[in-house]
Amino acid sequence: MLDKFSLKKKKKEASASNYSKEHIDLSSVPSHIAIIMDGNGRWAKKRGLPRIAGHHEGMKVVRKIVKASNEIGVKALTLYAFSTENWKRPKSEVEYLMRLPEEFLGSFLPELVAENVQVRVMGNKEQLPAHTLRAINKAMNDTKENDGLILNFALNYGSRFEIIEGIKQIIKDTNNGKLSVDDINEELFSEYLMSSDLAEPDLLIRTSGEVRLSNFMLWQLAYAEFWFTEVLWPDFEEKNFYQAIVEYQRRGRRFGGV
Ligand code: FPP
Repeated sequence: MLDKFSLKKKKKEASASNYSKEHIDLSSVPSHIAIIMDGNGRWAKKRGLPRIAGHHEGMKVVRKIVKASNEIGVKALTLYAFSTENWKRPKSEVEYLMRLPEEFLGSFLPELVAENVQVRVMGNKEQLPAHTLRAINKAMNDTKENDGLILNFALNYGSRFEIIEGIKQIIKDTNNGKLSVDDINEELFSEYLMSSDLAEPDLLIRTSGEVRLSNFMLWQLAYAEFWFTEVLWPDFEEKNFYQAIVEYQRRGRRFGGV
């Protein structure tokens, strides 16, 4: 027999299957959604498959969630695809992860162009292999005139790196007379971050049951609503995404006020 806790958990999980686009209030869709797509490795392990099979499956989910975001009028979707810490993984996994943007864009770029999606990448591009860089530059170039959903990949991204780079640039601009110390405030600092021309995320989703930020958009997520799910990223479906948005819409955001 299930105990009270397991029963409650089961009920909650079952309820995800009830969510569809129709449950969303289209007048208050989060403008910017950020996602930590976690659990690819565990998804593969559960099936006795190599970890890269999980990443491959996860790539297909990206397509579904981009489509769903576009349909309900999300303005920006930032996806954590590779962190500055992910270089510590086995060489073969890193190599595969660096091939994923090419694979994804090779298959879906025409669809993204047709759907008016604008592709962007934030992160330290200098360390990316030439083939990865070529694929993302082509995608950014082919979609630069699109004014629909902004699909922002965080690739070789780390929030601490981003903040330090911003500070260095502010110091340089102060030394060369472009800025004075009194100009430095929150708004100005945001302009020195890699997401400077995007609004801050309204909603952060993390899959796979982990409940941490893992060096992701530490500054920008200051007032975001967080939504966590046990679902592993390769199993994440539109109904889970809609559930996150419906639950976001039920929350009262006060931004420190009452
Ligand atoms: C974390 O899961 C996931 C990643 C480090 C890679 C994310 C990449 C994708 C979802 C593929 C889509 C990418 C593009 C560029 C289209 P994990 O490997 O840490 O999983 P685990 O915690 O279960 O081991």
